[in-house]
Amino acid sequence: MSTRTLALDDTLYRYLLDNSLREHAEMASLREATRTHPRAGMQISPEQGQFMALLVRLIGARRTIEVGVFTGYSALAVALALPADGRILACDISDEFTALGRPHWQRAGVAHKIELVLAPALATLDARLAAGEAGAYDFAFIDADKVSYDGYYERCLQLVRGGGLTLARRR
Ligand SMILES: C[S@@+](CC[C@H](N)C(=O)[O-])C[C@H]1O[C@@H](n2cnc3c(N)ncnc32)[C@H](O)[C@@H]1O
Repeated sequence: MSTRTLALDDTLYRYLLDNSLREHAEMASLREATRTHPRAGMQISPEQGQFMALLVRLIGARRTIEVGVFTGYSALAVALALPADGRILACDISDEFTALGRPHWQRAGVAHKIELVLAPALATLDARLAAGEAGAYDFAFIDADKVSYDGYYERCLQLVRGGGLTLARRR
């Protein structure tokens, strides 16, 4: 599991961060708070968060899905990029992991945009489909247990509107 973009040596990676990363202070704080966590390797890298935020803004996303929240860094990146009435359906099974992120969401002023559902994500997504939410989302990010990726992707294909975006993190 990598917390940085692959195939860059240390010098080039430092250059990338120094010259292109514009990280919100609360995102930096959350990254620091996660740094010593035994599962810190699960967190996306800051440049990945910035890229996701760009995509969210480019497509004018208002409703998004996140499958796999951990301590909430990618959710925070997306929430900050959404408009004031934007919403994230954030799926995870761990209260322990997600509890670490919630104070950062609060301090960043975006907690109201993040609906955290603590349940197996397949069940959460199926419930949204059963509630008639097919095509109601603009963007999805799949970043959870890899064995269920086919199932997450199939559901996101239905939940995300035509012309929307579904990203899946490979590792
Ligand atoms: C790679 S981490 C997510 C990292 C996060 N996107 C970030 O930026 O920090 C994977 C997460 O998936 C969650 N997870 C594992 N199995 C799950 C399931 N069946 N349903 C929902 N979440 C699950 C784990 O609890 C963990 O928090």
